[in-house]
Amino acid sequence: MTAKRGPIPRQGILDIAPYVPGTSALPGAQPVIKLSSNETPFGPSPAAIEAYRAAASSLSFYPDGSARPVREALAKLYGLDADRIVCGAGSDELLNLIATAYLGPGDEAIYSEHGFLVYKIAILARGALPMVAPESDFTTNVDAILARITPRTRVVFIANPNNPTGTYLAFDEVKRLRAGLPERVLLVLDAAYAEYVRANDYEAGIELVATTHNTVMTRTFSKIYGLASLRLGWVYCPAEVAAALNRIRGPFNVSGPAIAAGVAALKDQASVQRSAGHNETWRARMAEALSELGLGVTPSAANFLLLHFPKGNGRSAQEADKFLHGRRIILRRVTEYGFPDALRLTIGTEDDNNTVLETLRAFMGKTGPARK
Ligand SMILES: Cc1ncc(COP(=O)(O)O)c(C=O)c1O
Repeated sequence: MTAKRGPIPRQGILDIAPYVPGTSALPGAQPVIKLSSNETPFGPSPAAIEAYRAAASSLSFYPDGSARPVREALAKLYGLDADRIVCGAGSDELLNLIATAYLGPGDEAIYSEHGFLVYKIAILARGALPMVAPESDFTTNVDAILARITPRTRVVFIANPNNPTGTYLAFDEVKRLRAGLPERVLLVLDAAYAEYVRANDYEAGIELVATTHNTVMTRTFSKIYGLASLRLGWVYCPAEVAAALNRIRGPFNVSGPAIAAGVAALKDQASVQRSAGHNETWRARMAEALSELGLGVTPSAANFLLLHFPKGNGRSAQEADKFLHGRRIILRRVTEYGFPDALRLTIGTEDDNNTVLETLRAFMGKTGPARK
């Protein structure tokens, strides 16, 4: 029998390790506590759900091709120029469009050691070279990035705060990074978790995008707005970058229901503030209680915690994962991010947080009350 000779993907495509999302279900019908994907425990604003339902009556029509209602609502909320906002099917799509527009074979793009994995995939998919900058204390290191600049560097991707570490770079450091990068290098500030950050020295990116011509900021409706399934993200960028992205995006890349729900969600800033407040309280409580159990907890500015387990001795991250699954709790394994001994925990409802604490207390073999 002769071997089949089908179409062959471009060189390098089949060498890319596919992105593996966190476990989202377990065998069996009983409910699970899913704290593996940094989703909000509160769901979207009721106004967003209502707008989504209302959009069902116009499904036969193409949506606004540039998601104008969302761009205008964002422009109003943040005081931005709507023409410099581009929306996408999640910020994932925008990160990939940025890579398509600015990277090609032989170019280099830098991201940090434990950075969000979509960057590596987006870089490799364009035939470009991923350059990894080591971190210090699980935090993006500006000097390490600057040391990796070569004449072929075109893009630097930073998640701020980063997933899966939760650590962030203060605005002074981001400015120092921008100042040290050559003018031709596009700096991508991925601020997917910006709404959760309560630190005074943090700035998501709006100011740098406004004051430089080579910086962009990506944002998402998937996290605090609770619209992950609808796929809605946005990028605020210089007019020249918007002009490039608008040439290559799909002409209707954001759906009508996503536009409607996004606009309604933005109007409900009270929900956003409530969620951020809950997150701040519970992130601190969980970090303290989990540290008391003997786990290493990386300080986080986002809606999740990276938990470091002891190696072996029956208390490893792998064994914890199994133990938690047995009690129908799903956290995120983060081996592919360089953390074989850690799990990432999304902050949940009060009840779910307490259940996780009690379960991990039992796993670590500690006694005494775990409730906070
Ligand atoms: C740092 C970071 N950037 C971007 C995304 C992508 O979000 P979405 O495509 O849902 O907007 C995620 C999602 O986990 C993330 O953690």
